[in-house]
Amino acid sequence: MAAIRASITGVGGYVPDGILTNKDLESMVDTNDEWIVTRTGIRERHILEKGKGSSFMALKAIERLMEMRPTDPAEIDAIICCTTTPDHVFPATANLIGAAIGAVNAFGFDLQAACSGFLYGLTVGSQMIETGRYKKILLVGVDKMSSIINYEDRATCIIFGDGAGAVFLEPDNSGNGFIDAYLRSDGKGAEFLHMKAGGSLYPASAETVANKEHYVYQEGATVFKFAVTKMAEAVEIIMQKNNLTSDDIAFLVPHQANKRIIDATAERAGLPPEKVMLNIEHYGNTTNATLPLCLWDYRHQLKKGDNLIFAAFGGGFTWGAVYLKWGIEV
Ligand code: UT7
Repeated sequence: MAAIRASITGVGGYVPDGILTNKDLESMVDTNDEWIVTRTGIRERHILEKGKGSSFMALKAIERLMEMRPTDPAEIDAIICCTTTPDHVFPATANLIGAAIGAVNAFGFDLQAACSGFLYGLTVGSQMIETGRYKKILLVGVDKMSSIINYEDRATCIIFGDGAGAVFLEPDNSGNGFIDAYLRSDGKGAEFLHMKAGGSLYPASAETVANKEHYVYQEGATVFKFAVTKMAEAVEIIMQKNNLTSDDIAFLVPHQANKRIIDATAERAGLPPEKVMLNIEHYGNTTNATLPLCLWDYRHQLKKGDNLIFAAFGGGFTWGAVYLKWGIEV
């Protein structure tokens, strides 16, 4: 019998109804639709209304996940919520989700790795399943990026959007499931992409608010250079480690930060556009939600045994790639 691996046994995705188009942004900052589309590939992003937090979107995604994979919440062993925009600094958003769905036998925690969060969460959750100790893990990727974006800063407000995705990880001994991960982080990148205030070093004060330090700060061109190099390198490494050629891969599931980064990664891996999941045009960069939202949008095209390569790059810096064999037919 093959070793226990962790398969994704269901997926749910959600983006809020509110849409912010490039045209809308033209009236807010000095930008234009053509620049945004050619430099990023983004045409619109979804924005959650004020008064609702990340857990609201997570619960909507979980509702859809439960429709695909009906589950008694009492069977869930653990909830991992990957997010950079939790409802509160504490308690963990995972706990709020657990209480809302009645996951009375689960423990939960949030995982913070910026745009690579879901990739890290997929690795952590899968390895928990591989131990044999846990049978059902609810893995969520969610961000309300609009809550930390300065809509007067054209360098950041054009990129980000809000959204959520959720999957179940369960044991699989058919040979499918999570196979390998290559993950890295480097805190030297912190200066180029961060939110300065709101943590223990710079708690909220009248001064931090006046200085607009509760917003995302990004030196776009520097981050771009790292992202384009590191994401492509991670994909190349995971393919080499697992003796995979581009012909073996059904889909690249890339973080949706910039279409030019995705194109460069696919090109270096020798993957044609039809093997690359892409939804950045309609969602922008939803940070922790990009990967599960890709799975949600492409779920009907996935077949049991498909080789998927997930890849991401984000603040921290954090980056990496995961190799997983899809384990279900939807
Ligand atoms: O997901 C987490 C990781 N994040 C990323 O992977 C994002 C990586 N970075 C990027 O995607 C890109 O750097 C951006 C989309 C953020 C910016 O694109 P860029 O091609 O790197 O532009 P740039 O910052 O080098 O700026 C080029 C020019 C500048 O004008 P000058 O100095 O050449 O006259 C900017 O002032 O474009 C200008 N510019 C804009 N023009 C119109 C910058 N933002 C805008 C804008 N609209 N929104």
